[in-house]
Amino acid sequence: MKYFSCYWYNRKIFYIKETKVKIVVIQGPNLNMLGHREQNIYGPMKLEEIHGQMEAVAKQNGTEIEFFQTNLEGEIVDKIQECLGDADGIILNPAAYSHTSIAIRDAIAAVNLPTIEVHISNIYRREDFRAKSMTAAVSTGVISGFGPFGYHLAMISLLQILGEMEAMEVAQKKQEEESAKA
Ligand code: DQA
Repeated sequence: MKYFSCYWYNRKIFYIKETKVKIVVIQGPNLNMLGHREQNIYGPMKLEEIHGQMEAVAKQNGTEIEFFQTNLEGEIVDKIQECLGDADGIILNPAAYSHTSIAIRDAIAAVNLPTIEVHISNIYRREDFRAKSMTAAVSTGVISGFGPFGYHLAMISLLQILGEMEAMEVAQKKQEEESAKA
């Protein structure tokens, strides 16, 4: 069991979540090469190290976390679809597919789960073709240009969003109960 605190109409609401929050982290093509590929852009950190840090944050927050990396577009689509009914939120770096994939964009829209898009580099200060992300428009938010720390920012943002969603549900339920009594 995990306690969350949320601010809702300036009142602090504490509530208990019965089940653990689950986040799925999906990493697209060539991100398995982090630590080796273009270190001047992506830095020296390996993907396993980034995931290790995320795992530690998840543990601190009592959150379940799953990691998935693939170089294949269809496997990203499959994994996003699998999140429906299994996960509460997604952290996704579609990598090069961000700029091309309508299929991934449609999958994000289809599952309709809070989804944070992460880019290690600032895609807006690189080549022109990177400045357009097909997937960003259907994501809840985008974090770009903060290096591997962007994944940490994505985690705390996603946990905040999930907490607020849950608080909203609790507040709504309470309102319904009160109006049923009246
Ligand atoms: C990236 C940016 C993309 O343009 C690129 O194709 C990647 C990584 C990033 O994390 O900065 O592979 O998504």
